[in-house]
Amino acid sequence: MKPVLEVRGLRIDYPRPGTWLGRRKTLTAVVDVSLAVEAGRTLGIIGESGSGKSSIARAMLGLVEPMAGEILVDGQVVRTATDWAVARRSVQMVFQDPFASFDPRMTVAESVLEPVCCLAAVPPAQRPSRLVEVLESVGLDRAVGSRYPHELSGGQRQRVAIARALAPGPRVLVCDEPVSALDVSVQGQVVNLLLRLQAEQGLALVFISHDLAVARRVSHDLLVLRGGRQVEQGPADEVLDRPRDPYTQSLLAAAAAASR
Ligand SMILES: Nc1ncnc2c1ncn2[C@@H]1O[C@H](COP(=O)(O)OP(=O)(O)OP(=O)(O)O)[C@@H](O)[C@H]1O
Ligand SMILES: [Mg+2]
Repeated sequence: MKPVLEVRGLRIDYPRPGTWLGRRKTLTAVVDVSLAVEAGRTLGIIGESGSGKSSIARAMLGLVEPMAGEILVDGQVVRTATDWAVARRSVQMVFQDPFASFDPRMTVAESVLEPVCCLAAVPPAQRPSRLVEVLESVGLDRAVGSRYPHELSGGQRQRVAIARALAPGPRVLVCDEPVSALDVSVQGQVVNLLLRLQAEQGLALVFISHDLAVARRVSHDLLVLRGGRQVEQGPADEVLDRPRDPYTQSLLAAAAAASR
C-alpha cells in the first residue's frame, strides 16, 4: 500500500543564540531520518528526551522548515506554503498538553472548529453538524461545546484536542506524547479512543511516546531515535523483543528496571 505520509532524509537545524563575537551556531536536532506510515497503521517513535521526536512531528506539520529532506503526503512532495495549506487538512496533530493547546477565551465549539475554518475544510453550512459529529466520535456530549477549557477535566480536554484534530477530516494524526500529561487511569481510555478511531476511520497514526508499554500497545512499526538519528526501525514486536541496536537494548533495560 502507498504511504499516506512519508519523510525522506529529514534534517532539522535550529539557530543557537549568538555567542560571543556575535557568531551564530546551529544545533542539529534531526539527521537523515526517513519513515513512512500507511492508512490504518501506527508508527511509534521512541527515544530519550531531546532525541528529536517533537522536531520530526513539527516538520510533518510544516511547523518547522527542514534543512534537508522531503515530506510527502499521499505521494506528493509538500514544500511551499500553498502545498501545506492543502496538506494540513490531511495531517493533523495532537499535542501532549491539551491545556496549552487551547485559547482559554474560546469555547470548545470555537476551538474545535478553528482548524476547519482556517483550512476551509468544511463548508460553513455543514460546520455545526461536523462539530456534533466529532464531539460524539470522541465520546463527548454536544453540550460540552459551550464550555471553556478550564471547565473540563484533563481527559475531556484531550478528547476535545482529538476532536479538533479530526474536524478537518485528516488521514493522519501525529500524536506527540498524547497521554503523558494525563492521569494513569485516563491514559488507557485515550489510547483506546485513538485505536477505535483508527479502526473506524482507517487513520494513519504517528505516535510519539516515552512509555514503551504504550508504544508497544499502539504501534505496528517502531522507530528508535538517538541524538536526532534513527538507530533502529522495524515491526514493533521485533524492535522491542529482539532489539539489534545497543541503544535500543539499553532503553528497554532502563524501562524494565524502572518498572520493577
Ligand atoms: N525551537 C527550538 N530552538 C532551538 N532548539 C530547539 C528548539 N526545539 C527543540 N530544540 C532542540 O532540539 C533538540 C531536539 O528537541 P525535541 O523537542 O525535538 O526533542 P524530543 O525528543 O521531543 O524531547 P522530549 O522527549 O523532551 O519532548 C533538543 O536538543 C532541543 O533542545
Ligand atoms: Mg518532545
